[in-house]
Amino acid sequence: MKDIVSLCKRRGFIFPASDIYGGLNGFWDYGPLGTELKNNLRDRWWKDMVTTPPIGPDGAPVQIVGLDSSIIQNPKTWVASGHVGGFSDPMVDCKETKKRYRQDHLVVLTAEKADRWPAFHEETEDDEILKRLKKLGMPSDLSLFEKTNLTKLPIEDYAKIIGPDVKEPGTLTEPKEFNLMFETYTGAIQSEDSKAYLRPETAQGIFLNFKNVLDSSRVKVPFGIAQIGKAFRNEVTPRNFIFRSREFEQMEMEWFCHGGEAKMWQDFWLEERANFWKAVGLSDGNIIIRGHDADELAHYAKEGLGTSDIEYKFPFTDPGYGELEGIAHRCDFDLKAHEEHSGQKLAYLDPSRDNERYIPHVIEPAAGLTRGVLALICEAYTVDENRPSGVYLNFTPAMAPKKAAILPLIGKDEHVPIATKLYLELREEFPVDLDIKQNIGKRYARQDEIGTPYCFTIDNDTIADGTVTVRERNTMAQERISLDKVAEYLREKMKV
Ligand code: GAP
Repeated sequence: MKDIVSLCKRRGFIFPASDIYGGLNGFWDYGPLGTELKNNLRDRWWKDMVTTPPIGPDGAPVQIVGLDSSIIQNPKTWVASGHVGGFSDPMVDCKETKKRYRQDHLVVLTAEKADRWPAFHEETEDDEILKRLKKLGMPSDLSLFEKTNLTKLPIEDYAKIIGPDVKEPGTLTEPKEFNLMFETYTGAIQSEDSKAYLRPETAQGIFLNFKNVLDSSRVKVPFGIAQIGKAFRNEVTPRNFIFRSREFEQMEMEWFCHGGEAKMWQDFWLEERANFWKAVGLSDGNIIIRGHDADELAHYAKEGLGTSDIEYKFPFTDPGYGELEGIAHRCDFDLKAHEEHSGQKLAYLDPSRDNERYIPHVIEPAAGLTRGVLALICEAYTVDENRPSGVYLNFTPAMAPKKAAILPLIGKDEHVPIATKLYLELREEFPVDLDIKQNIGKRYARQDEIGTPYCFTIDNDTIADGTVTVRERNTMAQERISLDKVAEYLREKMKV
C-alpha cells in the first residue's frame, strides 16, 4: 500500500486533503488524474444504470431514472431512517490517556487465573504483542492466554483490562455509543432547532423523492432511482488510504418492487453488479460475494432476505477481502418509516396487480465510488522490473484517465507541429496528453505510471512516410501505423 499511496501522490491521483496544513485525518483530495479516473468509473455506473440499464428477466430493459438530491435534508429524515437513534459505533475511552477506541476493534488476552489482561488493537501483530507482554513484566507466551474480542467481555471484567496504551489495568470506561453523523446548523441561530446533518448515505434522498418521481415521470413498479454523490461519516478510525474515509462518494440505486419479487430482483442485481466490477477491470479471482451473517445486518435489512456484499481483495485485506458494494433487501422499512414520520401516503397503487395497494420493497445495490477507485488502482498496480518506471498501471482503456499520449521524439520544429496537430484532432474525441519535454524513455515511464494504454511517437519517419510508432503499455510492443489512422485505431481499442 505504501508504494501505491506514494505513486498516487507523485502522479497526481490522490492527495491528503489540506496537505499544506499537515492534512486532516479521513479526508482526501482527488488530483488531476484521480478526478478523471473517478469520473470514468462514475460515468460508467451512470450509463449502466440510467442511460442503458440492463435487460430484465422479461427480456425488456428495466426502468431506472436518475436523481441528485440535497446533501442536507430535513433532520426528521434521519430520525425516520434510524440514523439519529442507531447509526453509531460503541466506543470505550481510556481515562488515563484520553484515547478513544472502537470496542469491536480491541482484542484482550484473557487468562483465567491472571488479574491483568492486556488489550490490543485487533491489527497488532503477534511479535508486537510479545514485546508488550515483556514490557509489562508478563510471561511472553501467547499459549497461556486466550484472544477475546472486547465486545464479548462483561463490564465487570473491565477492571482487569490494561488498555492498549497504558501499563496498569482499570482505565477503560464502559462502552458508549458514538453517532457517526456530522452535525451542522442551518440559518443564523445555532440551537437544537436548527441542527441538521450531512447525509451519511445517498439512499435517503431517493426515498424522500419516491412520490415526486412517481408523480412526475412515467415509471411503474418495478423501477429504480439511481444517485451518485457525497456521503459523510465521522468514522472513528478512518484508515487504509481512501478505503474508509470521513467524506466519500457513493453510487446507490434503490430498486422498488413488489415484496413477492424481492428474491428474484436481489439475485438479478447481485449478478449485474458483480459483472459491472469485472467489466471495469477487477479480476474474477479478486472478487467474492459474501452473505452477511445475521449479527452484521443493518436495522433495515433484519427482516428480509438479508444483504450480500461484493468484496475485493485489497492489499491490506489480503488474503481476506473488503466490502466494495452491498446488495441489501431493505424490505419496506424506509418508505414505511417516512410515511409514518411525514404523514404522507407513500403506498403504490399497482394497475398490473388489480390495483393492489402496497408499500414497495427495496433491493439496494449500494457501492462506494471512491472505494471503487481504490480497487481499480490496486488492481492496476503492476510491478515490472523490466521497464524504467519499475511499475505500470494496467487500467482498462475505458477507465484509464488518459487514453493516449502524443510524443514528438525531438522537441524541435519538425516533430512538434505534427504532434500538436494530431493532439488537437484527438482531444476532440479522447482525453489525451501532448508531452514534449524530456527524453522519450522518461516520457514512456511517466505514461506507464499513470496507466496510459497507448503512446504515439512522431519521428523523422513520420515526415518521410506519414507513419507514427504506437507503443502498447502492457507489452511495450511497438508497431507503425499511418498517422491518419490514429483516431480510428484508438476508437477500436476503446471498445475493449
Ligand atoms: N445505503 C446503504 C449504505 O450506505 P453501506 O454499506 O454503509 O450501505 C455502501 O455503504 C458503500 O459505501 C460501501 O459498500 C462502501 O463501498 C462505501 N462506504 C461506506 N462507508 C465508507 C467510508 N467510510 N469510506 C469510503 N467508502 C465507504
